[in-house]
Amino acid sequence: MYLVTSRRLNRIKEVLNRRQRDLRIFIENVRNVHNFSAILRTCDAVGVMYVHFYYEGGNPPINREIARGSERWVVLIRENDPVQALRRLKGEGFQIVATALSEDSKDFREADYTKPTVIVLGNEDRGVSAAVLDVADLKVKIPMYGMVQSLNVSVANALILYEAQRQRLAAGMYDKPSLTPEEYDRFLKLWTYDRILERGLSKARLREDSS
Ligand SMILES: C[S@@+](CC[C@H](N)C(=O)[O-])C[C@H]1O[C@@H](n2cnc3c(N)ncnc32)[C@H](O)[C@@H]1O
Repeated sequence: MYLVTSRRLNRIKEVLNRRQRDLRIFIENVRNVHNFSAILRTCDAVGVMYVHFYYEGGNPPINREIARGSERWVVLIRENDPVQALRRLKGEGFQIVATALSEDSKDFREADYTKPTVIVLGNEDRGVSAAVLDVADLKVKIPMYGMVQSLNVSVANALILYEAQRQRLAAGMYDKPSLTPEEYDRFLKLWTYDRILERGLSKARLREDSS
């Protein structure tokens, strides 16, 4: 049973069919609320389902105006130790592509994003940590020909993810589902039933409290 219109249901199915379970973002300590939120919004647009993050301190900063609800359509996975987390993902078959503005980084368009890939984004001041760079299989950079040394991290994320999308579209990877059938069913139920029921109950509770 679904608690959404058939139009909404079709849209949700389309989105789930295009989600790329093996294209992931790892956010290492991005502090700015606008940046973190804009990264999530691009992930949703490109079809990234799983966003891993390491964040020192409390909750990750999300601005709903900027994220535009994208935080509800991607899965945020909090990691307590970035190096351990990336080693684990490597063990699962992912290549780790770290962004780094160093001499020995490759042009980001040279990476093969059709492989299971985790793209690592770094802190606004310090970039990706040295410990994480050590774990990476590949370092990439977006060429810079201006006076400023780097791009905004959410802009860098968008450029790299759209290159990944370009490669994956060409390889037909958006034409067949990449989520497992279990994942697909779980998210379909969550997005078309559980969450809507939960929201309805919350609203009813609020109405009761204020009456
Ligand atoms: C403002 S930059 C950090 C600059 C830092 N001083 C450094 O040297 O890495 C924040 C993040 O944005 C991304 N980024 C910005 N410009 C980039 C570029 N030209 N190529 C690749 N990643 C970039 C990277 O993830 C980087 O860690």
